Amino acid sequence: MNPTAPIDLHSAQAFQAGIPHKAFAEMRNTPGLTWSPEAGGTKGFWSVTRYEDLVTVSRDTTTYSSAAGHIQIYDIDEDALEARASMIDMDPPIHTRLRRIISSAFTPRHVQDYRGAIRARVVNCLDQLEAAGGGNWVDVVAKPIPIGVICDLMGVPEQDHNYLIGLTDHLVAGTGSEPLEPNAYGNETDLRLLPFNSPAAWAMSQYATDLASRRRDSPADDLVTKLLEAEIDGERLTTEEFANFFRLMIFAGNETTRSSMAHLALHMHQFPEVFETVNEDRSLLSAVVDEVIRYSSAILYFRRTVMAPTELSGTPLAVGDKVVMWYSAANFDESQFPDPYAFRPDRPVTSPHVAFGGGGAHFCLGASLARLEISELIEAVLDRGLSFSSIGEPTFVESNFVNGIDHLEVSL
Ligand code: HEM
Repeated sequence: MNPTAPIDLHSAQAFQAGIPHKAFAEMRNTPGLTWSPEAGGTKGFWSVTRYEDLVTVSRDTTTYSSAAGHIQIYDIDEDALEARASMIDMDPPIHTRLRRIISSAFTPRHVQDYRGAIRARVVNCLDQLEAAGGGNWVDVVAKPIPIGVICDLMGVPEQDHNYLIGLTDHLVAGTGSEPLEPNAYGNETDLRLLPFNSPAAWAMSQYATDLASRRRDSPADDLVTKLLEAEIDGERLTTEEFANFFRLMIFAGNETTRSSMAHLALHMHQFPEVFETVNEDRSLLSAVVDEVIRYSSAILYFRRTVMAPTELSGTPLAVGDKVVMWYSAANFDESQFPDPYAFRPDRPVTSPHVAFGGGGAHFCLGASLARLEISELIEAVLDRGLSFSSIGEPTFVESNFVNGIDHLEVSL
C-alpha cells in the first residue's frame, strides 16, 4: 500500500500561502509515489515529486500521455477533451506538427529580435511605478509586460490587452474553489466543455475567431496570420483548432511569466544581497533569472495519463492511472539542488530546473522568451537602483495549478 499525500492536493487551499514545501519534502522523502484519494467526484492520482521521476515521465510520451486524459487533475468527459484540445493536450506525431508551425519564432536566437520591444514595455511600467513611489507590483509591472509581449507577437491590438488580461484572470479562477457565473460574457456553452470550466474560455474563442477574420482580410507579419496560413497535411486549422491554439498562446505566454515577475519582487525584498551581487557582476544575470524561475515555479503541475502498465520508483502503475508532475516539488529536490530553499545566483547549471517542464516534446515553447522578459526587467531594476522600502503581504491566486500572486503592494 502506497502512502497517502499529507495534504489535500485536489484543493486550491493547500496553496493559499504559496508552495507547500514541508508536505512536498515529506513526499520526496517517502519511497515510491504518493497517492491522493478521490475527492469531490474527482478520481485519485499519483504524485511525482522527485526530480528524476519527473524527468522520466516528461520524456516518455508513449507511456505517459497528454492526450488520453486531461492534463489537469480534475476529470473531464471525452467530448470535453475534444472541444478544448490544443497542442499541449496532444501527443506526437500530431503535437509535433502543430508545434512546428510557430516554433521558429521562439528559438533563443529569434527571441533576441523582441528585446527592444520588451525593453520599451519594461521602461514604461517602471516609469509608472517610480512616478507613484510604488503601488501594486502585480498590476503595474508583472501583469502588463508579458501580456503586452505575447499580444504583440500574436498580433493583438494594444487596446485589447486589458480585455485579455481580464479573460486570463477569469480562466485561472476556474481552477479555484469558487463557482463561476456560467453565462458571463454571454456564454451559453455548457461549462464542462470549456477549458478551465470557465466562460472566459468561450469569450477568448470568440475574440480569436473575430481577430482571425480581420487577419484573413488583411494579413500581417504576426503569429495569428502564420497560424491561419499554415497547412497540416494539406489542410488549414479549423476555426476551433485556431481558437484553441490562440487561447493556449495567450494563457501560456502571459499567466506564467506574470507569476514569476510577481515573485521576483518578493525575492528582491527577501534576498537583497543576491541582487547586489548581480548588480556588481552582471555575468550572473542569466543565472539569477533561472533562480527566479525555479524558486517561483509558476506552473505548479501538469498531469499525464498512463497508457501501458509500468512502474515508477517502485510504484506499479496501471493503464488509465493519473500521474501528476509537481514541478513545484521537483524544483526543490535536495538531490539536484543542494540547499534548495537558498536563493543563489551561482547554482551549478548541471541540473536545469524543471519549471519549464522536465524536457521532451512539451518542453515550454516560450522558455527563451520568458527568460528574456525577466532578464530585461531585472536589468532595468538594477540600472535604476530600485529597491523597496516596504513590501506588503502577497495575496496568492486561489489555484492548485498556477503559483500566482494577485496583489503585492510595494513602496520604493
Ligand atoms: C516563467 C514563465 C513560464 C513557465 C514557468 C512556463 C512553464 C511551462 C510548462 C511547465 C510547460 C509544460 C511542459 C511540459 O509539459 O513538459 C509549458 C508549456 C508551454 N509553454 Fe510555457 N512557461 C512559461 C512561459 C511561457 C511563455 C512566455 C510562452 C509564450 C509563448 C509559453 C508557451 C508555452 C507553450 C505554447 C507550451 C506548450 C508546449 C507544448 O505542448 O509543446 N510559456 N510552459
